Amino acid sequence: MESDAISQLKTLLGTARDLRENLSRADRLQLGGLAEALRNELERPDEALFRVTFNEPSHYLGIRLAIQWGVFDALGDVGEPGKSSAQLAENTGADPRLVARFLRHLAANGTIREVDLDTYASTRLSASCRQKFYKDAVGFMFDDFYNVGWKLPSFLDTISHRNPADINNGPFQHAYNLPGKSLYTYFGENTAMAQRFGGMIQLYNAGKPFFWEDGYYPIKERLVDSGPKSDEDVLLIDIGGGDAGDLGLLRKALGSEVKGRLILQELKHIIDRSDQDGYEAQVGDWNQVQPIKGARAYMLQHILHDFSSDDECRRILRNIIPAMTPGYSKLLIKELLIPDRNAPSAFTAMDVNVIQSLSGQERTESQFRNLLESVGFKIEGIWGHQNALDVVIEASLS
Ligand SMILES: C[S@@+](CC[C@H](N)C(=O)[O-])C[C@H]1O[C@@H](n2cnc3c(N)ncnc32)[C@H](O)[C@@H]1O
Repeated sequence: MESDAISQLKTLLGTARDLRENLSRADRLQLGGLAEALRNELERPDEALFRVTFNEPSHYLGIRLAIQWGVFDALGDVGEPGKSSAQLAENTGADPRLVARFLRHLAANGTIREVDLDTYASTRLSASCRQKFYKDAVGFMFDDFYNVGWKLPSFLDTISHRNPADINNGPFQHAYNLPGKSLYTYFGENTAMAQRFGGMIQLYNAGKPFFWEDGYYPIKERLVDSGPKSDEDVLLIDIGGGDAGDLGLLRKALGSEVKGRLILQELKHIIDRSDQDGYEAQVGDWNQVQPIKGARAYMLQHILHDFSSDDECRRILRNIIPAMTPGYSKLLIKELLIPDRNAPSAFTAMDVNVIQSLSGQERTESQFRNLLESVGFKIEGIWGHQNALDVVIEASLS
């Protein structure tokens, strides 16, 4: 006879698809958090630690190998009756018995479904792992970045466990033995790694709205309406805007009737491969004084979180200030805002991740307020979106 708790949870599980499709992101994540809290309450401490140290790393290893072996590609989006482990191992080049063992572990963790003896069907996750950016993201986080995490304790030993603050001499440089080398300069030399990093960024952004979409930052009212009146004026400069081509999508969303140039400022290796479709691209360096005066908006997206040192952030901000026209130009910062209390693990994981990659730091609202006010900015507003993790902070010169 099943306990009441089990049958109640089974009933709730039966509605999961409906919940997934109809709940907001925030409610969906809260429900996931509650499910996790329930598991934490049910597990004994030894079981919890076994899960974290044995199961989760080996699950991740299974996903990494399944991608390399092409198992997810072979599985496709097959439902019942599924495919046998022998069928799935056929073109992997690996021992079918080895593949079968990892398939069983992936099924035990819900990444694939066991539908019959030694027979598996796909899930939404396994089907998604066929996409290039999923493969790149796993490639970056596992092959390029795992060693940075496991060498973090020995790095911290070298700096007496202070908060890492040197972007060019942090855990990444320690793990790769590249003292003084900027991660981003290194990406210019190791373009395969840079591409895998791009996949990880794409994974972070997947399923989330662009900042100009409805219900997020009201770009028309805040920037466009009292913004550029001619095609020579600049609407927005995306400083360190990356290689995802967001400005091209913004131009499409705005339409050609909206005046003002969109400019990407980036490192040379990014500019060299930018498509410049709907926007301009120029080599730029946030360590230099901003050369373009009087733009309507100067944007920093996921830039300040690269620096845990507020002094470094102030240096970057002070390089923008002389270019801004008081009463007209705005500073836009798009970042995670860590809640002061009960921060969800998606936020805290990002904070720990930026320690490893860049000696960086995600900030709380009060930390951003103090930082911006210390160089003479006033926060005009903070906009989030129910399906986004990031917020947009708009600030002007006070
Ligand atoms: C964390 S990524 C953020 C990319 C993009 N803004 C986003 O939100 O996805 C930081 C970006 O800054 C660029 N970058 C690094 N150093 C820079 C510098 N000194 N001046 C301008 N851009 C720089 C890198 O090439 C990289 O694309």
